Amino acid sequence: MTCRAVVLLSGRGSNFRAIVEARLPIEIAAVISNRPQAAGLDYAREHGIAAIALDHTQHPDREAFDALLADEIECHRPDLVVLAGYMRILSPAFIARFEGRLLNIHPSLLPMFPGLKTHERALAEGVKIHGCTVHFVTADLDHGPIVIQAAVPVRADDSPETLAARVLQQEHRVYPQAIRWFAEGRLAICDGRVNLKDDWASQSVFPNGM
Ligand code: GRF
Repeated sequence: MTCRAVVLLSGRGSNFRAIVEARLPIEIAAVISNRPQAAGLDYAREHGIAAIALDHTQHPDREAFDALLADEIECHRPDLVVLAGYMRILSPAFIARFEGRLLNIHPSLLPMFPGLKTHERALAEGVKIHGCTVHFVTADLDHGPIVIQAAVPVRADDSPETLAARVLQQEHRVYPQAIRWFAEGRLAICDGRVNLKDDWASQSVFPNGM
């Protein structure tokens, strides 16, 4: 049976675009944004994918909004919920409802630099390697079981923007890969770690020359 996915986003949606372009063995049942103007919604409409805006500013609090969001997601009967630049903290009740089928991409090598402004913070710390992480979402913000990571070198003349662009290229590579593994039923969570059936070596990606 084809894996049904719902994508949540808040902005430009370049990861969502990479997922569509990867032609994965999934059906994207809907894309939902908490920001009605998100460019990712336009891209969904252009590609015949149901695009739904649920404006969080119209709801009294996080719990109320997340309950509505969860109900909307459930209408599409997803096997998988993909956070692709969804820029709101999710309530514990929401996470509990989708735990085990909720993936996120974060622009750092977790557990380093959870939270925002990861590229600025990486440069400020002087790290020489940075990257991105796809992980299952748990109630512990940016700390869930890791599916795949990709590393990039940090260059002496990097700005947050140049570093972000280098990391983003890898995001577009590893997120479709992680979703493919999920759809193929190859991911198993055991003791807070993700095992990739028959192929653990592919879970860390290094650019050429590293
Ligand atoms: C990405 O850097 C992702 O890692 C983070 O938010 C950004 C979303 O970018 N969670 P886009 O909307 O997919 O272009």
